Amino acid sequence: MSGRPPGEQAAHPAGTDVAFPLSRRGDVVPAECAWLRDERPVARVRTLAGDPAWLVSTYDLAGRVLDDETFSLSATAAPGAPQQYAPTFPVQIRNNLSRIKDEGTRDAVMQALSPRAIKQAADRFRHRADALIDELLAEGPPVDLKDRFADPYTASVMCTVLGLPDDDWRRLMSGLDISIMTAPRPLEGALANWDKGMSHMAGLLRAPGATDAPGLLGALARVRADSGGGEEASTDEHLTMTLHSLFEAGAVSTSAFLTLAILLLLRDSEQRRWLGDHPEAIGPAVEELLRYNLSIGDALPRIATRDTELGGVPVAAGDLVLVLVEGANHDPAVFRDPGRLDLTRTPNPHLAFGSGRHYCPATTLARAHAATALTALLARLPGLRLAVPADELNWRSGWIKRTPERLPVLW
Ligand code: HEM
Repeated sequence: MSGRPPGEQAAHPAGTDVAFPLSRRGDVVPAECAWLRDERPVARVRTLAGDPAWLVSTYDLAGRVLDDETFSLSATAAPGAPQQYAPTFPVQIRNNLSRIKDEGTRDAVMQALSPRAIKQAADRFRHRADALIDELLAEGPPVDLKDRFADPYTASVMCTVLGLPDDDWRRLMSGLDISIMTAPRPLEGALANWDKGMSHMAGLLRAPGATDAPGLLGALARVRADSGGGEEASTDEHLTMTLHSLFEAGAVSTSAFLTLAILLLLRDSEQRRWLGDHPEAIGPAVEELLRYNLSIGDALPRIATRDTELGGVPVAAGDLVLVLVEGANHDPAVFRDPGRLDLTRTPNPHLAFGSGRHYCPATTLARAHAATALTALLARLPGLRLAVPADELNWRSGWIKRTPERLPVLW
């Protein structure tokens, strides 16, 4: 491996090892990943917001940062902390997601996301997937599978689990396109969009009869009623933010993952056929698709809370440390032949859901969402294939996830 970053002729800021964020393309592992792991496992980069940061790209060091409380997620919301990108949603949401686990709403959230609740909802997930596929079959190819399947199916799954009415799924999903943008400076429209989403959720929580609603909405409405029916503005805001941020975090992650998982299967006809013939192997297959997936567009941010060192590099208190999940998940020290999609790979200790204190609380939901959709698609559209060459897909920029704008398919 040479000591020069791949594509060094491409401009990257002076004093940094590599231009960051890396490529937005979500089906090809960026070439820089291998160079970074080999040559600069703790690399100096400058973020979109213009702040310096350490980019960590090996499995070992990524795990250490995520598991070690020296590196704090909540400190990324502190005033003056270096930023990965400008906040285009209120910074307290980062704390809010953690607070969900710590405060009075914890039980309601954990119950809504529990394996038992997801198992009970599984038939509805499959029913929705089948209904969407019926529509595709009635219309005929080609269709945009992101717009006609991945997004409405995801919205429906999230609405089922959270207890939200899903008849305005397009409005709910299109809100994500604006609110979770990554930009050098705060965007007026993104903040306005966040407020619009909050008002919508507040209206649902306060509606007459909300305490009888199913799922998390009903549970949070009952928490609200028990705590004085919204007399405490801070409780009201916390409950609204819980509902809104869970919808956003959940829908954005699951739809981006599902879209990329479908694309990975469409690009690998041998693995796709094998999974179609072995539907019982969907569990390990989803794990491998999670490992391979590049949906996290940037990196998982932490702030060092004291002077320390990482891989021999001194890191000062207050420094921004970024965990490059695709670097870890494609590290050959842990995953043999990491560039190969191997749906039977086991063990598969990927970091797609993070690790440590902030490990994703919705893994059962995330896995069931993808497994149900992929099983239905492979069974009912066995001839599914891309309608355009993968190189022609249009990748979104300035957004928290890597995603193609459209996924045109034939069958
Ligand atoms: C394939 C789907 C998903 C993926 C790949 C995913 C990935 C992740 C990752 C990597 C983290 C850790 C973030 C960090 O350490 O900074 C995380 C945390 C989180 N995820 Fe997920 N997630 C998915 C689905 C969901 C869903 C469906 C929900 C909600 C319904 C959800 C809610 C959360 C929350 C609330 C946290 C923050 C936990 C904390 O800060 O303590 N995720 N997720």
